[in-house]
Amino acid sequence: MIEASASAKVILFGEHAAVYGQPAIAAPVSSLRAYATVETNPVGVHGLHIDAPDLNQRLPVDIRAESVDNALTLTAQLVLTTLAVEPPDVTICLRSRIPIASGLGSGSAVSTALARALCLVLDRPLSESDLNRLVYEVEKIHHGTPSGIDNTVIVYERPVYFVRDKTLETLTIGAPLTLLIGDTGVGASTKIAVGDVRKLVEANREPTEQTIREIGAISEQARSAIEWGDAAAIGRLMNANHELLKLLTVSSPEVDRLVDAAQNAGALGAKLSGGGRGGNMIALVTPEHAHHVEQALLTAGAARVFQTTIA
Ligand code: MEV
Repeated sequence: MIEASASAKVILFGEHAAVYGQPAIAAPVSSLRAYATVETNPVGVHGLHIDAPDLNQRLPVDIRAESVDNALTLTAQLVLTTLAVEPPDVTICLRSRIPIASGLGSGSAVSTALARALCLVLDRPLSESDLNRLVYEVEKIHHGTPSGIDNTVIVYERPVYFVRDKTLETLTIGAPLTLLIGDTGVGASTKIAVGDVRKLVEANREPTEQTIREIGAISEQARSAIEWGDAAAIGRLMNANHELLKLLTVSSPEVDRLVDAAQNAGALGAKLSGGGRGGNMIALVTPEHAHHVEQALLTAGAARVFQTTIA
């Protein structure tokens, strides 16, 4: 059986500011993945098909279609045109454990898994940088004006210190970070949140740009704290980052409730993660405190809590 996969991601610092060229830090969540399996076409069915039951989509891929606005079709089309090959006669079945519209990079992960499966069946590998460029093109459908951080952390599957349009820097983790990912259960569009921050910049330029710069400064400090393994400092910076994200209007009552609950239960720090307005938040905890904070998140209304270690 041919199968490929790609991980989810969390943004530890700098979401939204990343769109404006400020540094941001993200890490893969390797235990939460999207999968693409290659299956033979049913008798009488020809060409490349994509079957995504979780997304309620079953599509034939037309390699020559113009202005494609479906992320899955565009992914397949870009792989085939980049490799200059005809579509194979197979169905690629997509399944994902990553919740959609929740800030965990489900769109990038599904595209990456699909592209990898297609390369495997064609026996034509793509370099990581070509794959990253390709998934970035697809991200534009989900995000409008993405910084590129989601596709980068997911394609390379490494913790990254990311600055838009700059050479990628991977990050050394000085000491493992235990994170709880708390799902508000509220789906939210990153595209709308990014667009609203843009409107805020236009309406209120100086203070908003100042907030964005302050978030960038936090990412820079967090990079050293992460490299040194200084969990207390990382936690403080997460709390400060969350306050600045609130000023950018990208938090929500549901996110704030979970962030407050984690902080009050003794998390070292907590913040929204990703596009915001719902989706997931993250809390940095000590392994001893993880269970207590997880219970506090569930009591505060988290739809589910997932524990991961960034190492
Ligand atoms: C989304 O995961 C991160 C944002 O900063 C958007 C982007 O950087 O493209 C909100």
